[in-house]
Amino acid sequence: MVAIMKTLVILTVLFSSACVNQMSSVSVYKELGGYPKIEQIVDNFIIEIEKDPVIFEYFKESDVERFRTKLTEHICFHTGGPCKYTGDTMERVHDGMNITETDFNRGVDLLINAMYQADIPHRIQNKMLAIFVPMREQMIYRP
Ligand code: HEM
Repeated sequence: MVAIMKTLVILTVLFSSACVNQMSSVSVYKELGGYPKIEQIVDNFIIEIEKDPVIFEYFKESDVERFRTKLTEHICFHTGGPCKYTGDTMERVHDGMNITETDFNRGVDLLINAMYQADIPHRIQNKMLAIFVPMREQMIYRP
């Protein structure tokens, strides 16, 4: 009887740690809802940028279709999705734009709006931000 109990305890521990491992290996890409959700977030983000005069100023001469494609790839790749990022590095792209800390935060607010509009749960929004916000050092203007 004791041996059966011990076996049951071991099996329970093994099973639950397998579950924990599986849960922690679920990518943010999957939690977001995969490629279609990322496309939706990027579409919403572009609309948000177009509505915001401060941020739009940076984009007024940009090729919007290139931005759509590259940002979608970038998010897909960095959240653990099956994409290759074919755009330029964050330093190279944002170099010379002189993006201020305040404007960077304003851009992040637009990304949050875009995620809300795509019905991304708060918990997953935070996971997204934890991936992308630390990249700020590569984009913000340092005199
Ligand atoms: C977490 C924040 C951000 C991420 C992950 C990000 C990512 C990207 C990516 C992937 C591209 C396309 C790269 C390519 O064409 O090769 C891009 C382009 C661009 N980004 Fe960002 N970006 C961020 C924040 C910002 C902010 C805050 C601004 C302005 C205030 C900005 C301004 C631009 C502009 C204007 C372009 C287009 C450049 C062009 O036309 O060549 N970005 N960004």
